[in-house]
Amino acid sequence: MKSRHALALPALLVVAIVLTAPGAQPASAAEEQMSKAEADGIIFERQNLMLQFDKDAELLGEIAAGLKPKDKLAEVTASIAETAAASKGAFEPRVPGGRAKPEVWSNWADYSRRLDDLEKNTKQLAEFGAKGDLTSVTNMLGGALQCKECHDVYRGPKKPA
Ligand code: HEC
Repeated sequence: MKSRHALALPALLVVAIVLTAPGAQPASAAEEQMSKAEADGIIFERQNLMLQFDKDAELLGEIAAGLKPKDKLAEVTASIAETAAASKGAFEPRVPGGRAKPEVWSNWADYSRRLDDLEKNTKQLAEFGAKGDLTSVTNMLGGALQCKECHDVYRGPKKPA
């Protein structure tokens, strides 16, 4: 009886290892099945979110600098928070392209932590914005967005048109 167990266990282990080996289903298989149109759509969506960030961050900067009236404060901070909340999902599919560096996905733990921070910080910004609390919004602005910090690591150069 003992000897049968001794044989069966390694055999089971081998089966388990073969079934769970990462190479069994290469990640690229899923990518290859994605059509070019689907991949382009995913890249387009995340780029649109970034362009929305750009528009909103510019307006918010102008409001904070006193160049624009603060009547749009609630709206613009809510919009930034909304965009931030959608960003992680938009980058989750491993679709290299656009100006996203491959490190977005090879360093996903770090990259997604940055998007989580952005979501958390912009939620706080929107709460201050909803109360019309421009001072708190302005005080947070320096550290809350981290746009350049992320681009320096994860965004490639502009491609020639
Ligand atoms: C966690 C990382 C990260 C953060 C934070 C981040 N970005 Fe980006 N951004 C990227 C990546 C990656 C790309 C390239 C996306 C692509 O081309 O697929 C990008 C692209 C862009 C683009 C170019 C879009 C285009 O296609 O023309 C703009 C503009 C931009 N970001 C603005 C911002 C602004 C403004 C903020 C801050 C409110 C911000 N981003 C925060 C990672 C980030």
